[in-house]
Amino acid sequence: MIIFFSGTGNSHFVARELGKLLHEEEILQLKGEILYDPTKSQLKTDSKRIIWIFPTYSWGVPPVVKRFIKECNFEGADKAIHYMVTTCGDDTGETAAQWRKFIAERKWTATNAYTVIMPNTYVLMKGFDVDSPDLAAQKLEQAPTRIAEIADHINKGTAGDMLTKGSWPKIKTGIIYPYFVRFCMSPKPFKTNANCTGCGKCARACPMDNITMGAKCPQWHDRCALCLRCYHICPSDAVEYGNATKDKGQYFLE
Ligand SMILES: Cc1cc2nc3c(=O)[nH]c(=O)nc-3n(C[C@H](O)[C@H](O)[C@H](O)COP(=O)(O)O)c2cc1C
Ligand code: SF4
Ligand code: SF4
Repeated sequence: MIIFFSGTGNSHFVARELGKLLHEEEILQLKGEILYDPTKSQLKTDSKRIIWIFPTYSWGVPPVVKRFIKECNFEGADKAIHYMVTTCGDDTGETAAQWRKFIAERKWTATNAYTVIMPNTYVLMKGFDVDSPDLAAQKLEQAPTRIAEIADHINKGTAGDMLTKGSWPKIKTGIIYPYFVRFCMSPKPFKTNANCTGCGKCARACPMDNITMGAKCPQWHDRCALCLRCYHICPSDAVEYGNATKDKGQYFLE
């Protein structure tokens, strides 16, 4: 079984391609009510392996995924072996160690963890932007090879991780991640500029159902995953996050 969360399509792509190579029939996308309130979930599987796929957020597990792992009702998860695949723009720090801790807290069994480098989506701080078109294309070109390697590794039952932790992984995950989650994930700065046509695409696309359409423009509420799907998907480049997104690019993988 594959369980995935994706904001801008990268992890969705990996879930789909890995699912094909591993002939996984059960593929579950985390979104909406069960992501907001995992206690409402009622999952069941006979699968011998569960592969969790999600983006790296500030060198850690996205808080919505963390909450889902900790609180979901999941019959059969204790009989399966759990794998992790995280997509990232650059590096993951100790995301895998964090994920293993959450899995162990449920008394489930974690095994290998993998990274797939994909185009960058984080644009909400000074110095952070989407990749150049060339770099994004290069990452997308290399991703299928990495996904095939991961599938081969899983199929053969090879032990060991294939991760891109980057430099200072313990500091990034242990110190920066908790700070980021506490102070840098608020949806309050989201707003629209004069380009907004009121098309409603952002509201329909939000995986948390966090956006409603007002008289014309979207309104953001407080159940945001900060996945940036609304920002990247807007056809008019009308979504802003305070001043942080000024002159920043957009990226979305259909
Ligand atoms: C809130 C946020 C935090 C991110 N933090 C990291 C990070 O710590 N390291 C990294 O390499 N990429 C980071 N990224 C980039 C994403 O992990 C990467 O682009 C990922 O493939 C996006 O997956 P998705 O399209 O499935 O949402 C971040 C993106 C967002 C939205
Ligand atoms: S997708 Fe963009 S243009 Fe359409 S309603 Fe949302 S912000 Fe406005
Ligand atoms: S409001 Fe935007 S950033 Fe927040 S969960 Fe929805 S699409 Fe993602």
